[in-house]
Amino acid sequence: MPLRSRIAGTGMSVGNRVVTNADLTQWMDTSEEWIEQRTGIKERRWIDETQRPSTLAAEATYQALEQAGLEVGDIDCILLATLSGEHDFPGTSFFLHEEIEAGDIPCIDLRAQCSGFLYALQMGDALIRTGTHRRVLVVGAEVHSTGLDVSTEGRDVTVIFGDGAGATLLEAIDVDDDGPGVLEVRCHAAGKHARRLWTEGPSSARMPRIDEKMLEEKKHFPHMEGRFVFKHAVTRMPEVLLETLGAASLKLQDVDLFLFHQANLRINEAVAQRLEIPKEKVRNNIQRLGNCSAGALPILLAEASREGSLQPGQLVSLTAFGSGFTWASAVLRWG
Ligand code: ACO
Repeated sequence: MPLRSRIAGTGMSVGNRVVTNADLTQWMDTSEEWIEQRTGIKERRWIDETQRPSTLAAEATYQALEQAGLEVGDIDCILLATLSGEHDFPGTSFFLHEEIEAGDIPCIDLRAQCSGFLYALQMGDALIRTGTHRRVLVVGAEVHSTGLDVSTEGRDVTVIFGDGAGATLLEAIDVDDDGPGVLEVRCHAAGKHARRLWTEGPSSARMPRIDEKMLEEKKHFPHMEGRFVFKHAVTRMPEVLLETLGAASLKLQDVDLFLFHQANLRINEAVAQRLEIPKEKVRNNIQRLGNCSAGALPILLAEASREGSLQPGQLVSLTAFGSGFTWASAVLRWG
């Protein structure tokens, strides 16, 4: 019998510190109105000194396991998507592995930035479909706050980012036409635009990887050509969403819930408008959490499933765009 994966459990965890737009005005030349009007964000959550990327990921994992009625020992493999590795070498997933005492199961960091959760979902799903593993933990975990320029120079990027992790536990089930599970995932990239949204240093391409001059020039902070990124996001997201639904022989009207990456509420409104998706079918949380990059989509999924707004049999479409550039979409039947 052919296999597919279903999401058996979800979980989420965010930074303990609430950072409002008013807080940001103390550090940089900005205004509460500018941030809210241009991005939709009112506040974001940043970690405190008790939290790390791997502790956020662990908290989300425990919740996902509890919802699935499973234990750490039931996980066969960990895939963790992030752009903000707890340590560049070896990453974040190994510290999650340590935190939850995952024995000797394999784990790996996956880097596809804001599309990272969907890239990891595609790989987790493939591992299950090929019979390699029965239960794969797919996590998106991000801590941006420790790497942001909170001065006026960094204001375009800094105001959008938040810290958070989301986890999903994928489990193998037999394929059933109308049954639950991940139906399709499509991923794309355009490396030619990588430098339009990136952090230049530290870089293993240079010696030393970072120096005083780079620090002075703020090369260790993320830099973004905001308008260029915005334009690509509102074009690529509808494209890949439709491609994915088409591959699953589904129409826009079949989908019950649309989840978009949370980079800017205006991007999501533009995507929904282009596709004529009714507002009530779209769920956002950027107003409260900002942009948690790879954490954004699994956090949305966890919130929706925990509030009971997702019913068995409903179709969910997830779409993201991010640095790389990367963009991806998935469609799944809940249950
Ligand atoms: N407060 C006040 N003014 C600001 C701020 C701020 N926080 N940021 C920028 N400005 C100013 C600029 O200096 C500029 O002023 P000027 O006209 O005097 O030169 C003006 O506002 C317009 O600047 P833009 O950068 O063109 O502002 P824009 O309207 O594009 O908004 C934003 C910036 C919100 C970042 C937007 O471009 C955006 O959302 N881009 C896409 C983000 C995205 O999707 N990222 C991908 C995912 S993230 C990832 O993968 C890691």
